[in-house]
Amino acid sequence: MYTEKVMDHFMNPRNVGEIDNASGVGQVGNAKCGDIMKIYLDVKDGIIEDVKFKTFGCGSAIASSSVATEMIKGKTLEEALKLTNRQVVSALDGLPAPKIHCSVLAEQAIKSAILDYAQKNGLQFDELKDFN
Ligand code: FES
Ligand code: FES
Repeated sequence: MYTEKVMDHFMNPRNVGEIDNASGVGQVGNAKCGDIMKIYLDVKDGIIEDVKFKTFGCGSAIASSSVATEMIKGKTLEEALKLTNRQVVSALDGLPAPKIHCSVLAEQAIKSAILDYAQKNGLQFDELKDFN
C-alpha cells in the first residue's frame, strides 16, 4: 500500500534533527491524529541554506517531511512558499487516501517556519496572508 519512495524516506529520512539558532522555526499539529511536525530553517540572503525536521507522527508524516525538506533546500523563500502538499504526495509517488493529511502537515510546517522567519525580520509574503 506504500510506494517504494515512501518506504525509503520513512526508513532513511533526510534532514532529521534541529538547527541551533535557526532563522525560523515552525510547528504544526494535526488535531485529528495528534501528530506533530517541527521544521527548522537556516536562511541566508533569502535562500534556505539548511532545513531540518522533527516529526512525532506516522510513517507518512515522516516520509512527507523528509521529501519536503529535500524539495525546499537551496530554494528561495518564495519558492518554498509555493510548495503544496500535492507536490509532496507526487514526489512520494502517492500516499494512500487516509494519509493525505500527513502531507498537508509538511506544507503547513514549512509555511509556519517561514512565517516565523518573516515575523522576526519584518517581511511580508502574500502567500502567508491567510496562514497563521
Ligand atoms: Fe497514529 Fe498518526 S495517528 S501515527
Ligand atoms: Fe496524522 Fe500521518 S496519520 S500525520
